[in-house]
Amino acid sequence: MNKNIPILTADEIQKMQTAGRLAADVLKMLDNHVKAGVSTGKLDDLAHDYIVNTQHAIPACLGYHGFPKSICTSINHVVCHGIPDHDRILKDGDIINIDVTVIKDGYYGDTSKMWVIGEGSIMAQRICDVAQKALYAGMSVVKDGAYLGDIGAAIQSVVEPERFSIVREFCGHGLGKEFHCEPQVLHYGKKGTGVQLKSGMAITIEPMINQGVWQTKVMQDGWTAITKDRKLSAQWEHTLIVTDNGCIVTTARDDEDLSFIIS
Ligand code: MF3
Ligand code: CO
Ligand code: CO
Repeated sequence: MNKNIPILTADEIQKMQTAGRLAADVLKMLDNHVKAGVSTGKLDDLAHDYIVNTQHAIPACLGYHGFPKSICTSINHVVCHGIPDHDRILKDGDIINIDVTVIKDGYYGDTSKMWVIGEGSIMAQRICDVAQKALYAGMSVVKDGAYLGDIGAAIQSVVEPERFSIVREFCGHGLGKEFHCEPQVLHYGKKGTGVQLKSGMAITIEPMINQGVWQTKVMQDGWTAITKDRKLSAQWEHTLIVTDNGCIVTTARDDEDLSFIIS
């Protein structure tokens, strides 16, 4: 049942931790700039400059299958892969996901988080919170011997009681020396099914949660994925390395409480 999923060496795990920290640092750097009045194009410029000139790393999204920018900026009903744009100015009440992937020393770190701009509706705040709880629920079951289906089931158990839906067309993924590799990490599933995780595997978990229907469609630009009913969508993402008793969160930020994670 285990396809071609690389098991990372200690040296590779160290490189993944460096790449993950850099990706997390980009989100931290952007935090001061993500507010009403700024354009997503400007946020992309800032991230690009920071990754290239400060971190001496590579923005993995730029040129990836032709993606034109260094980060993804997905606002409101955009599910993922939103393209930064100097004409799209953030305004009070918007919710935005920024997804950053960097390559350092040949290895990848991939992470994203949500911001609510200004006040934000109760619904806006709630969908962002539930998406983060869903990510954490998925992360909490990762360890050697766990099944991918355990992750999906844990996410469903958080999202469905809240009456939000889980996007099916996009999933988490293996990564390491590649951006996207085996296994596919579905954000729904049945406990005890699918690929079994082994210490040293690296995966992302990145649930996309919709206010309305789970169906999405990709816009004319070939990238921007939106909800079919134009209702809100939220997503958070971390990169993890499986360990004997839990996982290492390579993209952990110091503004979050990950004390529930055993590494
Ligand atoms: N970072 C995204 C992920 O989590 C992938 C973005 S690919 C891009 O897998 F080309 F849209 F940038
Ligand atoms: Co990502
Ligand atoms: Co990813």
